[in-house]
Amino acid sequence: MSPGFVQVDVSRRLSQVADLVTVALDELLPRADGPESRVMEAMRYGALGPGKRLRAFFAIETGRLFGVAERSLLRIACALECVHAYSLVHDDLPCMDDDDMRRGRPTAHIAYDEVTAVLAGDALQASAFEILAHPDTHDDGGVRADLVLKLAQASGARGMVGGQMIDVLGVRDDLELVARMERLKTGALIVCAFELPLILARVRDQQRNALMAFARDLGLIYQIVDDLLDAEGAAESLGKAVGKDAAAGKANFVTLLGVEAARARLNLLSDQTKAHLEPFGDGAEFLRATVDFVIERRN
Ligand code: IPE
Ligand code: IPE
Ligand code: MG
Ligand code: MG
Ligand code: MG
Repeated sequence: MSPGFVQVDVSRRLSQVADLVTVALDELLPRADGPESRVMEAMRYGALGPGKRLRAFFAIETGRLFGVAERSLLRIACALECVHAYSLVHDDLPCMDDDDMRRGRPTAHIAYDEVTAVLAGDALQASAFEILAHPDTHDDGGVRADLVLKLAQASGARGMVGGQMIDVLGVRDDLELVARMERLKTGALIVCAFELPLILARVRDQQRNALMAFARDLGLIYQIVDDLLDAEGAAESLGKAVGKDAAAGKANFVTLLGVEAARARLNLLSDQTKAHLEPFGDGAEFLRATVDFVIERRN
């Protein structure tokens, strides 16, 4: 199979999954109703906009590999996308990255206002845990508690929020600290997208370790590509402003190493990431193709 064909296949499956997840999110998020309806409208605006739904895709494709029920997979996918959407709504706020454009539309605090965006982010986070803890996600309460625990760890102070803290504190000339920041702010939730379906599938030991190592590398790749796109991408295709990191004096792999060295690192990481899939043989062909897709993405 030519790499080009696989690329097309990944993007087609991604768009199928994205459609499914957007419909499911629409059903699961609270309807705008009552005197507090403004916060629900803003939640829907932040979560239902045209995101790629890649974290949802990782969770659903991994779960399918192990035969997990679609209904459960859709719910964990929605929970992940709620946390991700909340992180973006807050990331764009004037006190953080101060961005006006996200997913090709005005950011939530522009479309609404700052206080509504803060509250919508808070409520999206709560919705994520409500979705996971609901009995529809899995019959076994122990399994549901495990899902909640892992998502909480990935989102909190030793996960995404911790990474955002390092980011806003500002890192200078410290590649190790940059790696920690990228691993936490982006990698943690991506690792979680692989971990949740493995909990549902009760996959443990060697298979779990191999997929977790794969997910950690893929998370790093994801953020390096985001940094490259910030340096080299086009705002029209990305749907968000570019050149912000260098302008804000932010250290990341690209601002520290330069574009060429960051690309070389991506190539090395690509082989290392795929090597983790060896125990799965041909069954993991799709995940291998996903690595190329993430590296080659333009938005
Ligand atoms: C953007 O994430 C922010 C990062 C953590 C790198 P995505 O590139 O997945 O954004 P959407 O969900 O497709 O908008
Ligand atoms: C954001 O990283 C990571 C999050 C946890 C939201 P960035 O600030 O680089 O994401 P973009 O470029 O605004 O999407
Ligand atoms: Mg940021
Ligand atoms: Mg940002
Ligand atoms: Mg960025």
